[in-house]
Amino acid sequence: MLRIVAALAALAAATASPMWEKVSRAPKFETIDFTVATPISNAEGLQAAFDAVSNPGSSKYGMFMTKAEINEMTATPGWMKNEVLTWLQSHGHSCSARSDSIKCRGSVGAVEKMLSARMHTYQHKKSGDLVHQLDGSYTFPASMEGKIDFVSGLQGFPAEHLGRARKVGAGEQFTVPETLVSTYNLQGAKGSSSITQAAAEFQGYPAYAQDDLTTFIQQTAIPTFSIAKKIGPFNGNEPQPESTLDVQYLGAVGGGNTNWYWTEQGWMFEFAQDLMNAGESGTPDIISMSYGWDEEDQCQISPSAPPCAGGGVAGSKAFVTRVNSEFAKVGLNGITLAASSGDSGAHGRTDPMCQNPVTSPAYPAASPNVLAVGATQFSAASIKTGGSSPFCKSNTCKMGGDEIVCSTKTGALIVSGGGFSNVASTPSYQSSQVSAYISGSGVPAAGDFNATGRGYPDVAALGHAYYIQLNGEAMAVDGTSCSAPVFSGVLGLLAAKKGGKLGHVAPLLYKIYEADNSAFNDVTQGDNFCTESSCDCTTGFKATKGWDATTGLGTPNFPKLAAGMAKVLNL
Ligand SMILES: *[C@@H]1O[C@H](CO)[C@@H](O)[C@H](O)[C@H]1NC(C)=O
Repeated sequence: MLRIVAALAALAAATASPMWEKVSRAPKFETIDFTVATPISNAEGLQAAFDAVSNPGSSKYGMFMTKAEINEMTATPGWMKNEVLTWLQSHGHSCSARSDSIKCRGSVGAVEKMLSARMHTYQHKKSGDLVHQLDGSYTFPASMEGKIDFVSGLQGFPAEHLGRARKVGAGEQFTVPETLVSTYNLQGAKGSSSITQAAAEFQGYPAYAQDDLTTFIQQTAIPTFSIAKKIGPFNGNEPQPESTLDVQYLGAVGGGNTNWYWTEQGWMFEFAQDLMNAGESGTPDIISMSYGWDEEDQCQISPSAPPCAGGGVAGSKAFVTRVNSEFAKVGLNGITLAASSGDSGAHGRTDPMCQNPVTSPAYPAASPNVLAVGATQFSAASIKTGGSSPFCKSNTCKMGGDEIVCSTKTGALIVSGGGFSNVASTPSYQSSQVSAYISGSGVPAAGDFNATGRGYPDVAALGHAYYIQLNGEAMAVDGTSCSAPVFSGVLGLLAAKKGGKLGHVAPLLYKIYEADNSAFNDVTQGDNFCTESSCDCTTGFKATKGWDATTGLGTPNFPKLAAGMAKVLNL
């Protein structure tokens, strides 16, 4: 059966996505949704307020603002928004304005006419999914120049989620909740029902199955939990590996917290906008995101940038800059965003065969306004096995070992993403750690990475051979997709200890590290030169003592992390 994926994201340009095949002109009367980003006001004020509430050294630390206050601060001037709205409505679209964006639903024919453009229907070679996308040239009227940052939803293919689920292999040694409890010293850590944590899923990956969750809880002998609230489209008959992994491990690690589940039809811009328009109690405190793509392939159509296929970097920079501001709003409201660092090393999925020595950062991990989470695995020689849950009685479970960078070179199916943004500069909260790393021998030649950029990941967690229960079967998964929900669960436990929201948490974690290095298990072995497909790469980043662009500060040592937080925040 074919499924129409209606809302499209800011991802690879048509020419750059071999999995999608053009099948026909898009039918004129087909309905499509898109979002128009109108410029924000007061970007500097937003950044300053965000930095102050996020920095434990500031007198405003933790003094989060309400969504209404933030939306008012950044609102597009009314006259400007009205001109854009009038233009959109004159083309017959049905639109509603928010403080600094306009959401519209229209027909393919009306969009084509409005932008003098053509839309085509593309089909995914494996799944058969169809998307309608604007390809080739487009034209905005000169009167819209400077009044629209970009239009999101008309160009680009749905995001690839990062988790790779597979049938269980012979001799498989699993990572299970017990592994995480013993490796990260989570024994006795308690959540709180007043802390809400959520997995966010994007585009075509909308569901987990309750039966699988029930079996997972029973098999792994973890305290039972349920999903208190589901937001966005949900079809429980079609469980997906990414959603299943996220729900099972976020709830397992962040035990005792309240779990929500959020699906988003669009990509990062729509998500941030939906969060900021969900009402003060309509959003979770901590959000885990396991999706991403190259920072320079985030292009959207825009009156002020050339078409993506011909000059995508300018369009991508405009998009990334704006979405970084969107993440600042979300953090200023007290919401914590955690993002997987990517599964294909320093080169990413756009350069899977490492044809270019220049490394490619992934987004949203490369945003300084999210916590980016990389992946580790145990070195083969160090693995201890055991476990007392029903699952571990009939399978081999890992109970500990020495953590190294997760890589295909050492038997994993993915390589921990990491590197430096080409859009955002190094934020002050990480500058001393990053400059120490750059002056060492872990980095490639100066031209192959951006030494002035935001370095990621910030932290890491295990990312190899997780047991998940999917569609009635035990499956194994690798990915920074495992690491993000696990670290988010740890953040949920920290928030419960603090007794409230953590907001943008990276500055706090660097401060804790600087107060007590042993709050993190430092990963010093391995690198992220390889991609998922090739180990012939000559450039990448090496793990070193201290922060590095493979596993950040390291993996959590929970009791020390909690004690460090209490010390830094004078709790
Ligand atoms: C490097 O990053 C900075 C932001 O820190 C950016 O302004 C610059 O354009 C980037 N350089 C390249 C070559 O992309």
